[in-house]
Amino acid sequence: MVAHLKPAERLKNIKPSGIRRFFALAQGMPDVINLSIGEPDFTPPKHVLDAAEKAAKDGKTHYTPTNGIPELRTALAQKANSDYGLTYDPESEILVTVGGTEAIFLALIGLINPGDEVLIPNPGFVCYEPSVLLAGGVPVYFPLLEENDFKPTVDSVTSLITDKSRVIFLNYPNNPTSAVLCYKEVAALAAAAVERDLIVISDEVYERIIYGDAKHCCLATFSGMNARTLVVNSFSKTYAMTGLRVGYVYGPKELVSALWLAHQFVVACVNGPAQYAALAALKGSQDCVKEMVREFDRRRRLVYNRLNDIEGFGCMLPKGAFYVFPNIRAFGMSSEEFAEFLLKEAGVATAPGSSFGSYGEGYIRISYASSYEELEEALDRIEKAVKRIK
Ligand SMILES: Cc1ncc(COP(=O)(O)O)c(C=O)c1O
Repeated sequence: MVAHLKPAERLKNIKPSGIRRFFALAQGMPDVINLSIGEPDFTPPKHVLDAAEKAAKDGKTHYTPTNGIPELRTALAQKANSDYGLTYDPESEILVTVGGTEAIFLALIGLINPGDEVLIPNPGFVCYEPSVLLAGGVPVYFPLLEENDFKPTVDSVTSLITDKSRVIFLNYPNNPTSAVLCYKEVAALAAAAVERDLIVISDEVYERIIYGDAKHCCLATFSGMNARTLVVNSFSKTYAMTGLRVGYVYGPKELVSALWLAHQFVVACVNGPAQYAALAALKGSQDCVKEMVREFDRRRRLVYNRLNDIEGFGCMLPKGAFYVFPNIRAFGMSSEEFAEFLLKEAGVATAPGSSFGSYGEGYIRISYASSYEELEEALDRIEKAVKRIK
C-alpha cells in the first residue's frame, strides 16, 4: 500500500451518481429496458453529422479559439436575440463549453469563494451539488415539493438566504420533476434574486422540450436579471447530441470572463468538428426538434396515463423535459429499494428519486427517451411486478 495514493480531501463528500449505479447494474443484466438515463434516443439530424464529418475532413481538427469558433458564437448571439430579445457580445459574453456540465462547473469554480453559500434545488440535477463542493462552496437546498407541483415558493428560497448566499440555481424545464414555471412564478423568483443580490445560474438545457401551453421563460429577460444571470444551455437534449459535448453559457462580461479563464486551463477549447455540428444544428431547419418533441409528447401521455392507472403510483403530467417523477410511497419501500425491485422483478431500470437529493425520496424518475413500444413493454412489466407486492 502506497500511503500517499489517496484522493484529495476535496473529494471526500463527493459520491458517485446514483443514476450511474443503476445504469451500470442494468448493463450487466439480460433483457433490461433502461429508463434510467437522461438522453434522447434519437440520433442527431443528418445535416448535423455531415457538418462534423466535413469539418474533420476539411482539417478543422486543430485547437479553436478558447471561447469557441466565432461563427458559432455569432449564431448563438443571434439565437438569444431572436428567441428572447437579449443582446450579447459574441466576443466577451458567450462561451462555448463541453456541454452544460462544464458550464455549471466553470460557473462555480469561477465565481465561488470558499464558504460561499449556493442555493440549489432538491431534488435537483446531479451535477449541482458536487460542483458546489468541488468549488469549496456550501450547498443550501431549497425543497421542490409535490404539493407545490415541484415549484419553489419565494418563501422557501428567501428563508434560506444569509449574508453568505451568493448564487442560486434555477432549472426550468426541470430535471428530474419535469415542472415548468409560468411567467409570474419566474418573475417572483427573479425579483427575490435582485432584492437579495444573488447571481442566478439558470440551467435552460430543456428550453425547447416543452409541451402543451407551457412556455419557457428565459431568466435573463426579467427586470434586473441580465446583469446577474448566467444562462446555461446545451445542444445535448435539443438536437440529441449528448455525445458530441457542446454546450454554452451567456451572461454579462464580468461573469463570463471568469468562466473563460477557468475553461482555458481545463479543456483549452471544445472539440472543433463538434462545434461545426452545433453551428449546423442552429442554422439548419428546426423541424427535427419539433418532430422529436411531438414524439416525446406522445410518450409522455402514454407513461403518465399508464402509471396513474396502476394502483400505488401517483404522478404529475410532465410539462417539459422527458421524465416522469411518480410518487411511489404507497409501495412501502425506499426509492432505492423500489428501483432495485423494478430492476430485478420487472427488468426495468429507473433512477431512484433519492439520487437527486433527500427531497427526492419517495419518488423514482422514469425517462421516456425510449421508443413507444419499449415504453409499453416496460409499463406492462412494471404493472405485473407491482401486483406481486403484498
Ligand atoms: C438539468 C440538466 N442540466 C445540464 C445537463 C448537462 O447536459 P450536457 O452536459 O450534456 O449539456 C443535464 C443533463 O442531463 C441536465 O439534465
